Amino acid sequence: MSNPLDRALLRNLILGAALLGACGPAMAATAGHSAVFNANCSMCHQLGAAGVPGQFPRLAGRAGEIAATAAGRHYLERVVLYGMMGDITVDGTPIVGGVMPSFATLSDKDLAAALNYVASLGATGKLHWKGAVFKPADIARARAGKPLSPMQVHTLREATPGTK
Ligand code: HEC
Repeated sequence: MSNPLDRALLRNLILGAALLGACGPAMAATAGHSAVFNANCSMCHQLGAAGVPGQFPRLAGRAGEIAATAAGRHYLERVVLYGMMGDITVDGTPIVGGVMPSFATLSDKDLAAALNYVASLGATGKLHWKGAVFKPADIARARAGKPLSPMQVHTLREATPGTK
């Protein structure tokens, strides 16, 4: 650890560990964690859910707005469970022929974690928790309800506040 780069690296590692410690388990239970999102969603929605204009919707700064109402949370639960198909417009740019796959194979806990993570992101990709929380039991309830086709999820989106 003699060269300055190694020392800087070590300092960052220590700082990172301290920050993680400071967040603690209370935050872990509410604010989103990136692991499930990074493993399953980021290849399309990009790291930090920044999106790709015209291809993959930006979720950072948008999912939190949608999740702010019960109708919005109802919609988001169904997007991840059943996928979505049908043209949408995000940030003024149409996404034509986009397909969001179903993630029904993920556990209730993982889907709740992925939704909590995207809903917690501000437009800049920084954590910006608005207090909307998905619990594994919410996903289980959505799963037990009437299944929708990806087209029906698109129709549901049209009627959901915050999706424009
Ligand atoms: C294969 C690429 C792909 C993957 C992987 C993917 N998505 Fe998507 N997602 C899309 C596309 C494309 C759309 C828009 C679908 C449309 O145009 O109808 C979308 C839409 C969404 C929406 C709705 C956005 C809106 O504006 O209403 C949410 C929420 C979402 N995805 C979350 C996720 C989460 C969470 C994951 C991981 C569990 C995930 N997506 C994985 C491609 C993907």
